Amino acid sequence: MNILLLGSGGREHALALKLSQSPLCSNLYIAPGNAGTAACGTNINLRVGSEFAEAEQFCREQQIHLILVGPEDPLVHGIYDYFVSAHQNRPFADGWLGVIGPSAFAAQLEGSKAFAKAFMDRHQIPTASYREFTNDNFDEGREYLLHHTLPVVLKADGLAAGKGVIICNNHLEAVAEFDMMIHQHKFGDAGKRVVIEEFLNGIEVSVFVLTDGKSYCILPEAKDYKRIGEGDTGLNTGGMGAVSPVPFADNVFMQKVEERIIKPTIQGISSENMVYKGFVFIGVIKVNDEPFVIEYNCRMGDPETEVVIPRLKNDLVELLRATSLEQIHTVEIEQDPRVAITMMAVSGGYPGDFLKGYEIEGLQQPVETGSFVFHAGTKEENGQVVTNGGRVLAVTSYGSTTADAVARSKKILEGLRFRNMYFRQDIGYEFV
Ligand code: AMP
Ligand code: GLY
Repeated sequence: MNILLLGSGGREHALALKLSQSPLCSNLYIAPGNAGTAACGTNINLRVGSEFAEAEQFCREQQIHLILVGPEDPLVHGIYDYFVSAHQNRPFADGWLGVIGPSAFAAQLEGSKAFAKAFMDRHQIPTASYREFTNDNFDEGREYLLHHTLPVVLKADGLAAGKGVIICNNHLEAVAEFDMMIHQHKFGDAGKRVVIEEFLNGIEVSVFVLTDGKSYCILPEAKDYKRIGEGDTGLNTGGMGAVSPVPFADNVFMQKVEERIIKPTIQGISSENMVYKGFVFIGVIKVNDEPFVIEYNCRMGDPETEVVIPRLKNDLVELLRATSLEQIHTVEIEQDPRVAITMMAVSGGYPGDFLKGYEIEGLQQPVETGSFVFHAGTKEENGQVVTNGGRVLAVTSYGSTTADAVARSKKILEGLRFRNMYFRQDIGYEFV
């Protein structure tokens, strides 16, 4: 099977490695990929955001059978539907399976917070209570905010590159943020509609499900560490590390997640005839032992993928084929019992301003079996691997315990160098 993987982060390197290990994978292309994915397949310079014609042409030329999409943008912008209609107009290669992901309609579970909240309401899926407001009922929203318990959560409805959620501890600040979203277009069109919701106090876990729109299988769960500083302090980032499994997501809790959240979500997708053949990433919060949904994403998480995929024993290409062919009910997931942790090396200054293009040293060091150096923001320039983003490398290790896995990744990170490199040393700290 010829596979096209879209994206360029650590998530995509972990996916590319796993795809390339499958005997079912003949040729793997990654667009645009990074210096790490180049070792798993062929990087190609395709621009895929909300424009899919170039990708279509490439799929025709290279006889691609399956497209796996890493980030949310192409999914929310309708890549699934685009390829369905392109195939109807003129079929792709024999054995064409299509795009792994939801249709644009179903991708609103990630692309519109208001859509996701209304979906959860319709299917009695536990989540924070909420109301939505636009310019048309701004005054009502202002009153609602002024009488809301604190803290209160404001969410820009649309995609805002992970920055659209604001938690406010006083009413005036909340009203000011609300005004900036609606009237000053703080998040552009994404903030024209604002969801105001109750703050839930608890601990978060990322739950991953693969669905064909009717059945589902549950992948290993993970916890990510979003803050830049040790002890979960400082600014939010895309994620500084992750751990899987998550000790507080024990069997009893995961049973509740499956019964109250996963089953009604998949039944909701199916009963509303949403086309969804891909990953559902459910951000779950545990409040006094009970699970609530914080958000849906229609893709895998990053850096969670860098621990989830290493703990998945199944052949990923087989799983994706089963997804496409609506055969998920035949799949049984096998998890590696070991702990996996990933620690992210980032550019100094991130998540604020940072410089790129620094040479990365130490990539040639021998890496023990059981550890992986996944590239995130890297590229090759004149035969040298250089930094090319805020998050640069994700070093994953298995361990018999969290402490053991952390020690292994730390040792590798100490052998890697680029100017102003920084990493959090305390990933998994609550579990050691
Ligand atoms: P989201 O973009 O929806 O993932 O939100 C980003 C982060 O904000 C989440 O991972 C949570 O840590 C936090 N968050 C979002 N909604 C709530 C809520 N209702 N209560 C508490 N924290 C929240
Ligand atoms: N790690 C969170 C995300 O991928 O959105």
